[in-house]
Amino acid sequence: MRIKVVYDSKTGNTKKVADAIYSALPISAERDILDIHDYRSEEDDGWDLYFVGFWIRRSSASVEVLQRLSQLHHCGIALFGTCGILPVDASGAISLAETVSVWIPEDSRYLGSFLCRGRMDISVRNCCAAKRGTPEDDGRIDQFLRAFDEAMLHPDAADLAAAGEFARNTVKKLQTFAQEDEQDHIAS
Ligand SMILES: Cc1cc2nc3c(=O)[nH]c(=O)nc-3n(C[C@H](O)[C@H](O)[C@H](O)COP(=O)(O)O)c2cc1C
Repeated sequence: MRIKVVYDSKTGNTKKVADAIYSALPISAERDILDIHDYRSEEDDGWDLYFVGFWIRRSSASVEVLQRLSQLHHCGIALFGTCGILPVDASGAISLAETVSVWIPEDSRYLGSFLCRGRMDISVRNCCAAKRGTPEDDGRIDQFLRAFDEAMLHPDAADLAAAGEFARNTVKKLQTFAQEDEQDHIAS
């Protein structure tokens, strides 16, 4: 199996998760990891599985990630990402990933997603704290500051271990699909 990990990371959080995913991949596989900004489409021949990583920016991923996703044909694709404020329930986290997954071509197979929190730049906190008590204070500023502080230590060791587990399970999932496709092919 040929597996490529591609990530977009502005401040390093998503790169940490990308490294954890890459390290968890089976050593029997041909593996590659690269920053999306160093990515050339002519290098794209014949990869079976892509892990595509992004940081959440205004509830979606960057245009570079979305464009690249839309060009990944006839392969398995798993998404991973980091965000400052992890939605409180699993359905919220899934819907963030689903927003990005709609860019996956229909001839490729979407294999699921992994999201965890990632620390935000202190300037974001300062900017938000400065709005306290002003007309812009919509009553949610304290809630945001709490979420900011909780994100400070992420991704942590538990997040990276969970990312590794996600990578191993995704590879198994693709192998199972490949076996089923093979059986269907023989039966037809
Ligand atoms: C301009 C900007 C917009 C952001 N928008 C969101 C957002 O909508 N939701 C969220 O949870 N986090 C948001 N974040 C926080 C980042 O997604 C988070 O810190 C992420 O871990 C950064 O990843 P990186 O270190 O790989 O760049 C935003 C950060 C920036 C700088």
